[in-house]
Amino acid sequence: MKLSRKIFLLSAVACGMMVAHDAAHAAHHAPGDPADEKARQVLAHMSPEDKMSLLFSVDGGGFNGSVAPPGGLGSAAYLRAPAGSGLPDLQISDAGLGIRNPAHIRKDGAAVSLPSGLSTASSWDMDMAREAGAMIGREAWQSGFNVLLGGGADLTRDPRGGRNFEYAGEDPLQTGRMVGSTIAGVQSQHVISTLKHYAMNDLETSRMTMSADIDPVAMRESDLLGFEIALETGHPGSVMCSYNRVNDLYACENPYLLNTTLKQDWHYPGFVMSDWGATHSSARAALAGLDQESAGDHADARPYFQALLAADVKAGRVPQSRIDDMAQRIVRSLFAQGLVDHPPRRAPLDVVTDTLVAQRDEEEGAVLLRNEGNVLPLSPTARIAVIGGHADVGVISGGGSSQVDPIGGEVVKGPGKKDWPGDPVYFPSSPLKAMRAEAPSAHITYDPGTNIAAAVRAARAADVAVVYATQFTFEGMDAPNMHLDGNADALIAAVAAANPRTVVVMETGDPVLMPWNSSVAGVLEAWFPGSGGGTAIARLLFGKVAPSGHLTMTFPQAESQLAHPDIAGVTANNVFEMQFHTDQELVYDEGSDVGYRWFDRNHLKPLYPFGYGLTYTTFATDGLAAGYHHKQLTVTFNVRNTGTRPGVDVPQVYVGLPDGGARRLGGWQRVTLAPGESRQVSVQVDPRLLAHFDGRHDRWAIPSGRFRVWLGTSAVDDSQQVSVHLPARTLAP
Ligand code: BGC
Repeated sequence: MKLSRKIFLLSAVACGMMVAHDAAHAAHHAPGDPADEKARQVLAHMSPEDKMSLLFSVDGGGFNGSVAPPGGLGSAAYLRAPAGSGLPDLQISDAGLGIRNPAHIRKDGAAVSLPSGLSTASSWDMDMAREAGAMIGREAWQSGFNVLLGGGADLTRDPRGGRNFEYAGEDPLQTGRMVGSTIAGVQSQHVISTLKHYAMNDLETSRMTMSADIDPVAMRESDLLGFEIALETGHPGSVMCSYNRVNDLYACENPYLLNTTLKQDWHYPGFVMSDWGATHSSARAALAGLDQESAGDHADARPYFQALLAADVKAGRVPQSRIDDMAQRIVRSLFAQGLVDHPPRRAPLDVVTDTLVAQRDEEEGAVLLRNEGNVLPLSPTARIAVIGGHADVGVISGGGSSQVDPIGGEVVKGPGKKDWPGDPVYFPSSPLKAMRAEAPSAHITYDPGTNIAAAVRAARAADVAVVYATQFTFEGMDAPNMHLDGNADALIAAVAAANPRTVVVMETGDPVLMPWNSSVAGVLEAWFPGSGGGTAIARLLFGKVAPSGHLTMTFPQAESQLAHPDIAGVTANNVFEMQFHTDQELVYDEGSDVGYRWFDRNHLKPLYPFGYGLTYTTFATDGLAAGYHHKQLTVTFNVRNTGTRPGVDVPQVYVGLPDGGARRLGGWQRVTLAPGESRQVSVQVDPRLLAHFDGRHDRWAIPSGRFRVWLGTSAVDDSQQVSVHLPARTLAP
């Protein structure tokens, strides 16, 4: 064992054990909280057996061919409320992009899917994220579900992560605010939203066994800060602990994560549920802070939170007060999120309205990376060769438990892969058809791109070629490399050689390498575009809406630039092997310098930096000033639309601490401006971004000295900078 790792383990374990004792013996109490009070009243009349039954959900059906339990609708899990308690049964469904229908178990299980979480995050628009969350929350409620298993807030420590598309990106502030806003939206519909996967589940390789080893201080300043901000922003009723170990201990029995950080430091009043198969013990997990075992009848090696936990209580290994606390936290969330007073009322989905929400989300989240010679927006009368990516029928989506059954069915028949996650699913929102509808006077041809020579001929005969390229990523396995799928790189290079006015539309789950970047005129990163994706892309390409997305992940020039150039053990083999791959440790020695911070610290030049994104107009900023008043750092500046079209700018504020280190995103503003219009903007910097976490005293400490403040269009923009002196200050955790 490495020395550094030993230190992490000792500090985390020592800290956690102390608190485990306190938390286990003090039933949760928040005076004056009506939900807490109501929960207390219900539980006062409940038998110990009934309380215990709240701590264990069963498989909801679809898992390895299982059927829905009596009362269950067919979903990830089901929990029958104790008879006569007045509490609702819990109908628990995946996930963060829409309502999942595992193994097509429900006959009417199709739903509207948002674009990937990465796309929503790339809008940098908290109102949009809230609206997107409200849309899927509403669909959950109308489908009979009252617990949704999203949003995901793991940081992108590696651009090959199989589930990055479900998350928000590499920055803790950005992730916390965007995912927190989605959660708030879901919960506005009387549906509990679940912040997951807590914590450090940043990779899929060996996810069931691997230990993410990291200095707890660095973890508090990076991944955990993202969760903390998401929690404050969204107040999720539940938090899902992850599969992996963190500093050697499984996340679902990790007292440092659950008791010390989540419940003690962050005062989290809700409950912790395990990921499916992530519970490994009864007393140990309960004492560490796990409150509910998920789908424990099928997913875990044994049903821990039933007879085994009852025996622990009887033998005095777990005090009854801890069981009371677990039940209190669960029932409190049911009251706090309106599940008791507003039970789901099943109704047909409003597909038209909901698809429009998904479409707008995609319109805001797609990122224009390149636009040489203003190749975009496209002329409505151009001859356009659309090539590849199944653009004639639909848009690709990510695989795994966030996958939604498309309304209208799947439109691309794959080879029929039996292994998880099956063939990629395409939503029937055709970019080609939408382009034709958007520009009826254009002459638009389609070539599938499978034969490069034919695609080149089509491109030659057109004014502009638009190549659609995909990268399918999915839960359970990381991308073994950063390439687009199939022949896309060769296809794009050949088409670009034939027609310099080539635009690439990428539908990817992750950043990809773009060896052809400098030979194409335009690149639009559309991520996984969701149910309204085809229309959104067409409207962006023709300028009906201007792109306004900005990257929340660094696009490297090569994998050698990454903090971990190789993912140990990753192969393109069977996904189940990958998840359980040997008991490995991954030492995150880059600490809190994730993504752009790693690039900054090491003076590496990315292909496209974090925060970057173009649009169809231009902006100028000036008047940058930073002031510290009433313990608050406020940054002000002016932004002006200097172009000829209306547009949205996302100016970003980065800060540098007096004692050095990489720059950090401190805040941003999304500003919509007409041509010639200008506005004064003020951004308040979250004090935790100005601080170091002081592990010894368990608090944040702002050092005194001169802080640098950058105003930028991305994390590498050095053009405008001021500095400001701050006094030393400490903040409670
Ligand atoms: C995933 C979770 C999901 C759960 C239930 C797990 O494999 O990691 O994100 O919510 O399954 O389907």
